[in-house]
Amino acid sequence: MYQDVYRYSIDSPEAFWTEAAEDIYWVKKWDKVIDDSQKPLYRWFVGGELNMCYNAVDRHVENGRGEQIALIYDSPVTGTMKAFSYIELCDQAARFAGVLAEQGITKGDRVIIYMPMVPEAVVAMLACARIGAIHSVVFGGFAARELAARIDDAKPKLIVSASCGIEVKRVIDYGLLLNEAIEISNNKPEHCIILQRPQNMAVMKAGRDLDWHEAIADAKPVNCVPVSATDPLYILYTSGTTGQPKGVVRDTGGYAVALQWSMKNVYDMGPGEVWWTASDVGWVVGHSYIVYAPLLNGNTTVIYEGKPVSTPDAGAFWRVISQHRVKGFFTAPTAIRAIKREDPRGNYCNANDLSSLRTVFLAGERCDSNTLKWVNDILKVPVIDNWWQTETGWPIVSNCMGIEKLPIKPGSPAVPVPGFNVQVLDMDGSVKTAGESGNIAVKLPLPPGCLPTLWNADERYKETYLKTYPGYYLTWDAGYQDEDGYFWIMGRIDDIINTAGHRLSTGAIEEVIASHPDVAECAVIGVADELKGELSLGLVVLKDGVKRSHEEIAAEIIKLVKNNIGPVAAFKKVAMISNLPKTRSGKVLRSTMRKIADGVDYEVPATIENPAVLKDVAKSLVELGYAKRKDT
Ligand code: COA
Ligand code: AMP
Repeated sequence: MYQDVYRYSIDSPEAFWTEAAEDIYWVKKWDKVIDDSQKPLYRWFVGGELNMCYNAVDRHVENGRGEQIALIYDSPVTGTMKAFSYIELCDQAARFAGVLAEQGITKGDRVIIYMPMVPEAVVAMLACARIGAIHSVVFGGFAARELAARIDDAKPKLIVSASCGIEVKRVIDYGLLLNEAIEISNNKPEHCIILQRPQNMAVMKAGRDLDWHEAIADAKPVNCVPVSATDPLYILYTSGTTGQPKGVVRDTGGYAVALQWSMKNVYDMGPGEVWWTASDVGWVVGHSYIVYAPLLNGNTTVIYEGKPVSTPDAGAFWRVISQHRVKGFFTAPTAIRAIKREDPRGNYCNANDLSSLRTVFLAGERCDSNTLKWVNDILKVPVIDNWWQTETGWPIVSNCMGIEKLPIKPGSPAVPVPGFNVQVLDMDGSVKTAGESGNIAVKLPLPPGCLPTLWNADERYKETYLKTYPGYYLTWDAGYQDEDGYFWIMGRIDDIINTAGHRLSTGAIEEVIASHPDVAECAVIGVADELKGELSLGLVVLKDGVKRSHEEIAAEIIKLVKNNIGPVAAFKKVAMISNLPKTRSGKVLRSTMRKIADGVDYEVPATIENPAVLKDVAKSLVELGYAKRKDT
């Protein structure tokens, strides 16, 4: 079954995706399914016209689903619970689209959305889609400088924000961060629309800021504007290997088709059923599986403002599943590890009626087999690992539950999703045989829904992803395919690390550390962490003659990273070393230092310039509590 569907998608992509596209409402059908005239850049459904908001909301109202709950807002941090029917969500999106139109926002204009996990974030995204404006949602855990970098690249006419976000023990003043970001950015938006929250009201800037509630109360609802299938729906920034984030572009038509198809075929969800993705709207998982896919599919989607633990306890997720009768649940392995740490026996499960739950999906980082087995043991439903990336927008490798449930091999996300021709390649581009590790690439064209390019940066897109292996998209993950066709994803081959499912650039952190006046040289590595998968660790060489205390300088560096990248970097450890270990050609030996920190076997590279330095590195790492097994 799976094999047949998969083969059909690879052998006849045009026929396969034409059939899938029937589930979307098109104002005008496309002229060409795949346009390869700009190879290696491809476009899907060229000539087609549609509206994403219409497909996600309005059409369900027109087709008799209006009274059904579209969105449930569950916020343990504010003690709020609120449900919106499809009619109500449609009305909110149409009114907020009216607010945007009133501010002069039209098709193609960019709007940055910098908001916590509130339903207004979803309304703002849908409202942009409604009038063809391109949204760019920025995660709340980034610092002002990161927000400013996104403002400068996307050049938004308007920013939608909230007065605050609520973390477990503190209220985040979004107003302050927003003002600082606008201050340092070169592109000042004309207006900001601020959602005032009672936990911390923002001081409004006269002439610049509008109050969300006041604006929407007076707004005239506006209708959906048809856009081209190839028009961007959004830009989502993700970490590159440098400090300059990459703006992943998502088109409208291909994305709508892919997400709608995935909800049925990967996630086995039917219209009317309740779906919950415990992530954040600031990440790709949130864009695709909190907002667009479940709404396109006519599901009820849950937006949860809370944590897996401490809001109020490790039973929080099971309470939400039980209370809202969730059928399909999606989260990151880190969240499960956090629950497991506090409730190893899964006692909180027993206190909740979880009979509605059919499947758990995990993604965002490698899922270790212990975590997968544990959650399967306590919930007694299939636990499905998905491998994908911000760039692809939906899973590349997964067990496709709506097609055929294949055996689960803990530690492997299973098989390529139809549409993705995934290959493991050698350095020279030859295809590896089963069991051999290599770089994982996807043969072009990528299926609909994946990035057509980077925002205003076609060349960077080609250079980064398409140049290494002509005819392929390089995922920058390494791994292998086993005899049964299952993929095993082993980790990144670039300088990206994954902390609690959040993707971070070690290069960006290094740039910040290097700006400290006492730092001569530095390197950042990702070290294994039981809870968050990986944590960033800084190795710092101080300038000659610096006599200040190392603790004091380390604390300053940690603060600098928090203020410049954001708390999401979770950067808390700095080792002071006398020299960085390097090859004779000057390449910093990051992977060797990483192995030392993780306490695993390593070989001293033959090309090392200064072998003695490794001893010094190991000593410093031991002092920080790392490198437990070797060189102690
Ligand atoms: N706004 C502002 N700050 C935020 C934030 C937001 N939206 N989200 C996180 N932060 C802050 C946290 O308060 C924390 O700050 P601190 O170090 O000063 O305390 C820091 O960023 C790190 O956050 P986090 O990684 O969430 O760690 P945590 O210790 O607060 O929580 C987990 C640990 C496991 C509960 C949490 O990482 C988690 O829920 N992970 C799931 C990840 C996920 O959903 N990923 C999405 C990809 S699919
Ligand atoms: P992001 O773009 O933030 O979603 O991060 C994508 C990266 O996270 C991938 O390139 C992988 O390195 C990693 N990743 C995501 N999901 C998985 C998974 N299921 N297994 C292994 N790695 C994963």
